[in-house]
Amino acid sequence: MKDKLTGIYYGGDYNPEQRSESVWQEDMRLMKKAGVNFVSLGIFSWALLEPQEGVYVFDWLDKIIDLLYENKIYVNLSTATAAQPAWMTCKYDDILPVNKDGLKLSYASRQSYCPNSPSYKKGAARLVRTIASRYKDHPALRMWHINNEFGCHTAECYCDNCAQTFREWLKARYLTLDKLNAAWGTKFWSQYYYSWDEICIPKTSTAFINPSMTLDYRRFMSDSLINLYLEEKKIVNEITPAIPVTTNLMNGFKPIDYFTLAQDMDIVALDSYPDPSDSKTYHNTPLQFDLMRGLKNGRPFILMEQAVSHVNWRPVNAVKKPNEMRLMSYQAMAHGADGIMFFQWRQSQRGAEKFHSAMVSHNGDENARGFKEVCQLGNELSLLSELKGTYSNNKAALLFDYDNWWALDGECQPSSLTTYMLLIEKYYSTLFHLNIGVDIVPINSDLSMYDIVVAPSLYMTKPGTKELLESFVHHGGTFVCSFFSGIVDENDGAVYGAYPGLLTNLLGIYVEELNPLNRDEKYRLSYDESHYSCTLWSEKVHLRGASCIGHYESDFLNDSPALTVNSFGCGKAYYISTLPEDSLLEKVLSQIAVEKDISPALSVPKGVEIACRYSDSKQYIFLLNHSLEDQFVQLPASMTYFDMIKQQTVSQGITLASKAIKILR
Ligand code: GLA
Ligand code: ZN
Repeated sequence: MKDKLTGIYYGGDYNPEQRSESVWQEDMRLMKKAGVNFVSLGIFSWALLEPQEGVYVFDWLDKIIDLLYENKIYVNLSTATAAQPAWMTCKYDDILPVNKDGLKLSYASRQSYCPNSPSYKKGAARLVRTIASRYKDHPALRMWHINNEFGCHTAECYCDNCAQTFREWLKARYLTLDKLNAAWGTKFWSQYYYSWDEICIPKTSTAFINPSMTLDYRRFMSDSLINLYLEEKKIVNEITPAIPVTTNLMNGFKPIDYFTLAQDMDIVALDSYPDPSDSKTYHNTPLQFDLMRGLKNGRPFILMEQAVSHVNWRPVNAVKKPNEMRLMSYQAMAHGADGIMFFQWRQSQRGAEKFHSAMVSHNGDENARGFKEVCQLGNELSLLSELKGTYSNNKAALLFDYDNWWALDGECQPSSLTTYMLLIEKYYSTLFHLNIGVDIVPINSDLSMYDIVVAPSLYMTKPGTKELLESFVHHGGTFVCSFFSGIVDENDGAVYGAYPGLLTNLLGIYVEELNPLNRDEKYRLSYDESHYSCTLWSEKVHLRGASCIGHYESDFLNDSPALTVNSFGCGKAYYISTLPEDSLLEKVLSQIAVEKDISPALSVPKGVEIACRYSDSKQYIFLLNHSLEDQFVQLPASMTYFDMIKQQTVSQGITLASKAIKILR
């Protein structure tokens, strides 16, 4: 990447245009005190930059960029396209998005544009070209921030223009109507199309909508949003080929296939707002960090936005208690962040986000807890530049696929309780609690560096998946697959023959019946001479070469296999046909880890997370105490480490206070 900033990125969204210039000097003083080296500028300033069509005003932006540069603060310059000016919306009637019910939305908020609106796209392209040409040689410019959180508010549109664009998209995908009719199964319910113009879109209808159509509309909308990014990126690349380009992502955001989008991002940027009052936060948040790293094959990302304390958009907005923001920031870093940034620098005085926390609060008090923590973190990060660009070296991978997510979570499935994210989180958090580092990878990934690959509900198998997984296991890998896998093809059509379809050979089983369980329903099963409960789902499994390692003890499934393992080439393929209680899933996965000789870098007490980053010659161990008590971590007797924040050597052992962290080299 063409990056000229050597340290860890530290700063936040900066919206100086919302305040008088008299505050700007004070901003510079406080930014320097806090160790800020990078700010995102101009994200919501289109209306100020272009007061009339084709008339641009840059005086305030010129001034602030110069001022930042004088203070050695570099700029992640926004293309400012995230919210179009009101005059533009009033002038062009193709801009406002239309929802599923056919209602045209108003522009009283932000991101109120249809992703396929020709007028919006034309205006955006002209703005981006003008901004890029103006600042192309400015020495403060270090990164382009395209738009903002694509799809955050308007992830889909159902206007007539989108319907027409969808038909074009379908023509390119299927080439002939025959192929489309076959892929969508339109002989069902008399949906057969004789002309492209007859094809409708999945608006609110009388009953269930054709699931293959819904899936394609999701793909189309994802592509439409990605196209907006690509159109802007093309312009800035043409004018400033050496400046890296990013846009801020929102965790595993369902509407956009981030694996596809990230291919055209120079660095991945994440906005992360976990709820500090949710006990699942500390193991669900790193899942998102690991996904961000996985989007670009293990490359570090920037935590582009997080809250210093509370947000303003939950029913009750819990604060981050003392040291929690620091702990969460280092957790991001432990999982691959090369930058820690906030929304936003100064708390808004007016508008919908005035009660969202910021680096500088309404009180402007530099002795307030929030600002003191911001200063502490910024000054610590300045000691950690050598971590930038270091990588993880995990031996376990979790497969993640957007098409699978979209299709599995569709309407009219065997159980609406079974959602993809629920299963991803279950398997991830189990590995997390075992302190086994995980990469989240796409299903066409090179798996050769992994020992274990886990696929929670691989409902859809696409061309190539079977070969990829079989070759991984054949060469000695261990594959772990959960229930409801190998069920449909890439158009969401069920496999004829036997479930789990293309995975039958690898798993050595035949699934005769799917038997989802009700919300409070529990089955029993036995494993390793102990008895456990399981929920959510069960299946009638027959062995076709695999061995049974756990069987059901309930209902009509009594005595039939619940957990199986199949030897395949030099490796093994496990199948888990239900959702086992936590202790059983933990037991099975930890036994597999032991079999594959995978263990954490140090053994740590419960509640302490350990994660590592590596350079070619060094290992960096992050210890994060998420618990409410002090914890003692024993260090190996023969080893001396360097505590990177205290800047001193340590050996023997470390006591970590609640919410404290250590980075050992
Ligand atoms: C998003 C947006 C920001 C701001 C924050 C508030 O991440 O990108 O502009 O609205 O949410 O949490
Ligand atoms: Zn539209």
